[in-house]
Amino acid sequence: MSEQELILANRLRKRFKHFSKWARRQNISCFRIYDHDIPEFPVIADYYEGKVALWISDRTRDDSEEARQAFRQEAIRQTLLGLDLDENNLFVKDRRPGGQYRRRSRDKHEFIVHEGGHSFLINLSDYHDTGLFLDHRRTRALVASQSQGKKVLNLFCYTGSFTVYTSAAGATSTVSVDLSGRYLDWLERNLQLNGLQDKANTLVEDDVVCWLEDAVRDGEHFDLIICDPPTFSNSKMTADIFEVGKDHVKLIENCLKLLYPGGKLYFSTNKRNFTMQEIDYPNMSWKEITPQTVSPDFENSKAHRCWLFELS
Ligand SMILES: C[S@@+](CC[C@H](N)C(=O)[O-])C[C@H]1O[C@@H](n2cnc3c(N)ncnc32)[C@H](O)[C@@H]1O
Repeated sequence: MSEQELILANRLRKRFKHFSKWARRQNISCFRIYDHDIPEFPVIADYYEGKVALWISDRTRDDSEEARQAFRQEAIRQTLLGLDLDENNLFVKDRRPGGQYRRRSRDKHEFIVHEGGHSFLINLSDYHDTGLFLDHRRTRALVASQSQGKKVLNLFCYTGSFTVYTSAAGATSTVSVDLSGRYLDWLERNLQLNGLQDKANTLVEDDVVCWLEDAVRDGEHFDLIICDPPTFSNSKMTADIFEVGKDHVKLIENCLKLLYPGGKLYFSTNKRNFTMQEIDYPNMSWKEITPQTVSPDFENSKAHRCWLFELS
């Protein structure tokens, strides 16, 4: 095959060389290598300390199963070649629209990676996602830098990367809420891994929307809130379908009701074409801080947008 035809392999090689240099200088060991850079190769490749997760999207032009499989095989072949990777270190995932978390059917492949001086359990075989969303690396550091002596609330906490960061940075307490017991178990293991199991960290298995209503009614308060909802959620455990596009105003208002004066809310979404509605709340100021929270390896990704709401 000619050099010209190894277009994905060549791009991956070049980007990996560039970002691994940058990552070494920053003491970063997990980073994004590639995200839909070349339209003929709609894939994402993330690097986790020697292993690579590869999400492959279907191309509209591949209208038969045979064509889809041929494209997948080609993407895999070029990834192995471009990154000079052993196939045991490549974990291929489907990237289907809908965004729900699907359990996958390969043998369990769990290992530990490091970020910001903390350790996180990664699972590259069993879920659509890996256990650590790399695009929020800077957001985690930012929030942690403000959490010493603070009461922290982590909503839609997933495997608790924000909980680990803030608890380790000296938060007096954290509360982490997620619908999924499985992710909360994972969070618990991340806390243990970081020696934080005896700190005041409360894990709550609940629908955030309902939990917030109760917390507001009970007069609970926090200094720092992280709210990073999914674009869409229709779990059987929730009363209503949640859609960030239409439900974010109520969600943010309820978070603001839980803040002490001087408190901060970090709100983030990975919904494409998200429009933040006008939010009118007493003594509140807000601004988009996405340029501060996106690192160089995600600059072309549009992986998330992030806002800071502050009460005076
Ligand atoms: C985008 S992930 C959050 C990522 C997390 N903030 C992080 O940085 O690691 C979305 C999470 O929301 C949870 N979730 C979805 N719908 C929910 C709901 N209605 N209430 C509580 N958790 C929900 C999912 O189980 C998943 O863990």
